[in-house]
Order: sequence, then C-alpha cells, then structure tokens
Amino acid sequence: MTKPQTFHVKSFGCQMNVYDGERMAELMAAQGLTVTDDANAADLVVLNTCHIREKATEKVYSDIGRIRKAQGQEGRAPMIAVAGCVAQAEGEEIAHRAKVDIVVGPQAYHNLPALVDKASRGELGLDTDMPVLSKFGALPARRKVGPTAFLTVQEGCDKFCTYCVVPYTRGAEISRPWAALVDEAKSLVDAGAKEITLLGQNVNAWSDGERDLGTLIRELDRIDGLARIRYTTSHPNDMTQGLIDAHRDVEKLMPFLHLPVQSGSDRVLKAMNRSHSRDSYLRILDRVREARPDIALSGDFIVGFPGETEAEFADTLSLIDAVGYSMAFSFKYSPRPGTPAADMPDQIAAEVMDERLQRLQASLNRDQAAFNAATVSRTCQVLIERKGKLPGQMLGKSPWLHSVHLMTSAQIGDLVEVEIVDAGPNSVSAVEKVRAAA
Ligand code: SAH
Ligand code: SF4
Ligand code: F3S
Repeated sequence: MTKPQTFHVKSFGCQMNVYDGERMAELMAAQGLTVTDDANAADLVVLNTCHIREKATEKVYSDIGRIRKAQGQEGRAPMIAVAGCVAQAEGEEIAHRAKVDIVVGPQAYHNLPALVDKASRGELGLDTDMPVLSKFGALPARRKVGPTAFLTVQEGCDKFCTYCVVPYTRGAEISRPWAALVDEAKSLVDAGAKEITLLGQNVNAWSDGERDLGTLIRELDRIDGLARIRYTTSHPNDMTQGLIDAHRDVEKLMPFLHLPVQSGSDRVLKAMNRSHSRDSYLRILDRVREARPDIALSGDFIVGFPGETEAEFADTLSLIDAVGYSMAFSFKYSPRPGTPAADMPDQIAAEVMDERLQRLQASLNRDQAAFNAATVSRTCQVLIERKGKLPGQMLGKSPWLHSVHLMTSAQIGDLVEVEIVDAGPNSVSAVEKVRAAA
C-alpha cells in the first residue's frame, strides 16, 4: 500500500472525540498530508469511534463498508484506520472482522504517523496502549480554530457505573497539568477562539492536587480575548463548592450546567453504582441555582436499566418535573459487553423501553419549550458561529446554549447584544440591539 497523501477523519460520539479528531488532523497536516472533508476522496480515512451504545459501535462497521464501496467504484482502495473507543475495546479483533489497516486507541493516536508507515509496508498498525499524558506532549500546537473550541483538561473515569464502558475505553481518571492547560487555552485564543469548552469524561474531577476546576476557570478568566468559558461533562459527586462559587463570580463562565443523573430512583441509582442519591443530586442543583439563579440545567437519562419498574421510572419523571431542564439527552439502556449491568437479571423489553423513552422525552420537550419561552424579551449576548439559511441571517449561541437566529451584519466570531423575541421548541430568534463597537 502506498503512503497516503490525503487524510479524512470522521468523529462519532462525544465532544472529546471531536477534540481528538481535530488533534489527529493537525498531527497529520504537520506530517505533510492534506486534510480533506470528503471521506470518499481521502487516501487515509480515520473513523474515530464511539462504543457507548450498541448502535454507535455497529455504525463503524457499516461506515467502513460504505467508504470501501464508494472508493472502490472509482478504482481506489483507501487505507482505513479505526480510532477511538471501539478501537480500544475491540483491539485487533476489528482488523480481523473488517480488514482495516490501523487500530489506534484514544490514548495512542499521537503514534498515528508511525502506524501509517507500518500499514504502508503492509503490516497491521496496532496501538492500544494507555500512556495518557504522553499523547498531549507529542501533538503539534494549535494553529487555527473557529470561534468555539474544545480543550481536554481531564480524561478517563474511575466511577464504574455498572452500565458504562468509558472506564474501560478511556482508562483511569487523569488531569492534565495546569501549565499545559493555560498554555493551550492561550494558543486557542491566539488561533481565533472566543469561547473555550473544557472537556473531560468527569471534567469537574480535574485537580492538580491543590487546585480544582473552579480555580482553573478563574485563571482562564484572565485571558484577554477569551469571552466565554464552558465545561462538560460533570459528575454530581465532583461538584465542588469552588466550582459552584465560580458560577457566582466569574462572568465569562456561562450560566449552563450539564449534570447527568440517569435516574430519579434511589434503588436504580444504587444498582447503577452512581454513588449519589436523588436527593443529594437535587441539593447540588439548589446550591448551583443559589450561586447563579439564571443557570440553565441539562442532564442525561437512561430508561430501562435492568429491573427498572414502572414506579421507579415514574420517579425519574418526577425528578424531571422538579428540576425543569432547559435541555437533556435521553437513551434506552444498551447492554455493553464486559459491564456488570449486562449480566443483571430482568433486562427490560424493547417495547417497554420505547414507551418509557417517549414519555420521558415528552416531559423533557415540554420543559425545553418552557425554558425557551421564558427567555423571550430577555437581552443577552450571542456569539455568532455560522451563517443561517436566509441572506443576512446568522446563527449563534446564547449564554444558556440556545441556538439563536438573527439578522445582522455581524460576522462569525462576533459577540452581538440581542433581545430574544421569539422561541421555538429547539431554538430562539432575536433582534440585534446595539452593535458593540469593534
Ligand atoms: N461521563 C459522563 C458521560 C458518559 S457517556 C457522565 O458520567 O455523565 C454519556 C451518556 O451516555 C451517559 O451520561 C449515559 O446517559 C449514557 N450511557 C452510558 N452508557 C450507556 C448504556 N450502556 N446504555 C445507554 N446509555 C448509556
Ligand atoms: Fe460512564 Fe459513569 Fe464514568 Fe460517566 S461517571 S463515564 S456514566 S462510568
Ligand atoms: Fe463514546 Fe468513548 Fe466518548 S465511548 S461517548 S467516544 S468516551
């Protein structure tokens, strides 16, 4: 197989995969490859995969087939690499099952150039080692990014929720060092970022032994040119008072918190090994709302965990009623190989899960629409992210992470002062108030 000249990466799953995909593209560009948007035209296609639910994993195999077929019709045979969490979980098995050229785990992708060389010689390029921190040191500096950028500050998970593969695919919790993070944040701002979202599987577990995520956020607050800070995903048990206080004090920290709870039933939470209760979760939200009354709350939910009864499911609905989320993600439980829950008795029938998911989503949609409607006639800033469909229309995000449509002459990356005038189920529209002087 000849050495590839062009490169395409497709990321599935969470935002950390998006971040990793960007870093892989930067790495391969530094090696002289041309990055292309077209998977069907690239000599090297990297599928940066997600293992979280069965559907996500199966997608990889169908994608490999689709790319092979499309390129085959042009008489081409691309080099194919599987990266990300499926690569970590399945390792060499993928190479046998799908005849791919490279299998590289999420903590080893800095070795991609060497693996490409190996594959060019006709050997399997396999690396699923987990030397987490060495990856970051081996990646090229950030050069050009859009107005919103991701920054991984923490990786891995020690929580071992009984349904979840992440502790196995991403490894143990580690925090990147303070100085590396401040440097990378500054280079992201120099490269064009106005908003930085700090990422981690348990981002609020970030610590360097003395300082917590709240302290790091206070440091990033001092970077000139950085307008907004966000972070995701948090675990209830790592919600320190320092971080909650940052929501009160740091203006650049946006009023939005994604805090997954999964279930409103204490029995189910215990079986999930969440190590927090319904009540302790609600009390955390009370403290967060006290610090930042206008904060928008988001969560993750799983329906149909093994043994979930109708009454336990109703506890989840009542928790949703109690919180009033501005948005949320909800999933049907998917048994994952190697996790304790996959072997639990009383797996829930698909029809029951479908029906519960529908009821859950009806509640969440109701609350999202209500949250959006309650913002009408409020003024806020919108960070413009891209062009809309209509001439003169631009799309951006409110502080509460709404998608906002507006007519403006402002450009991508501008912050515009607006009044929200209309709300739909999934977005709001706004009119520009005063153009902030440049
Ligand atoms: N670290 C984060 C997110 C992990 S994965 C956290 O703890 O919240 C994102 C979401 O996927 C989880 O919050 C959970 O709602 C969902 N999820 C994880 N494993 C799942 C499984 N086996 N079946 C269905 N949903 C799952
Ligand atoms: Fe998975 Fe639980 Fe860890 Fe989140 S906290 S990544 S759901 S094991
Ligand atoms: Fe998926 Fe791995 Fe992220 S399993 S959700 S890509 S950490």
